[in-house]
Amino acid sequence: MEVAEAQVAILSLLGQVSPGVLPKVIQWLKTSSEIEELTTSNADVLLHNIADDLRNCLPVEAMVISEKQAQENGYVYSSASKLQGIEINAEFCELQEKIITKYHFSDRIQVNHSDICSQKTLLHQADVVVLNNVFEYFLSKEEQIKAWIFMYENLRKKGCLVVTVPSLEESFSKLQINMQLSQWLEEIELDTDIFLGPEMDQEALSDIHLYRVL
Ligand SMILES: C[S@@+](CC[C@H](N)C(=O)[O-])C[C@H]1O[C@@H](n2cnc3c(N)ncnc32)[C@H](O)[C@@H]1O
Repeated sequence: MEVAEAQVAILSLLGQVSPGVLPKVIQWLKTSSEIEELTTSNADVLLHNIADDLRNCLPVEAMVISEKQAQENGYVYSSASKLQGIEINAEFCELQEKIITKYHFSDRIQVNHSDICSQKTLLHQADVVVLNNVFEYFLSKEEQIKAWIFMYENLRKKGCLVVTVPSLEESFSKLQINMQLSQWLEEIELDTDIFLGPEMDQEALSDIHLYRVL
């Protein structure tokens, strides 16, 4: 059956569903694991393999689900010509290098062992910057404030997209930091009412925030 034919058949079937239960059926289509199994792509299979490898390399408590796939997701789902990771921790760098080599991602991904606060040029040039729980659990409060001020001063390319977990407001609320966010970035609302697989934690998804540099 071709796409158009399948669409007509599905719409015709949905047309036969009593209006009262139609929302439930639509919700089932959006969230059912049976549909999910039909739509699992090669990219998803690849990411599951990577996640398994990472799980085998690390103690379970060392990572949470959203972290372990962020960079590899970037490779699999993004068409960006260059994906550059900056990681201050040598062991995490080594681990990421292993995954990049194993899955032949090195044509587009590069990881540098470095402090982001020494990467002015990179921040000035980047089109998209992903900051995944980046400073809070790894730096002292004073260091976090310095790092955020550095980001504020150097993440200035107009239109640059900034993805953060959690929101910048939440990160700043725990610090004595006086920054006019609304003069730096605007938040772009994300539609989190989507189904990304049975393992997806909806709360974790709502922690992802997207901003555009003004
Ligand atoms: C929650 S982990 C995210 C790991 C991975 N980049 C990802 O997105 O899945 C945050 C990482 O930020 C690193 N980090 C903290 N401060 C940093 C800094 N100033 N420069 C570079 N990396 C930093 C930590 O070592 C930690 O590995």
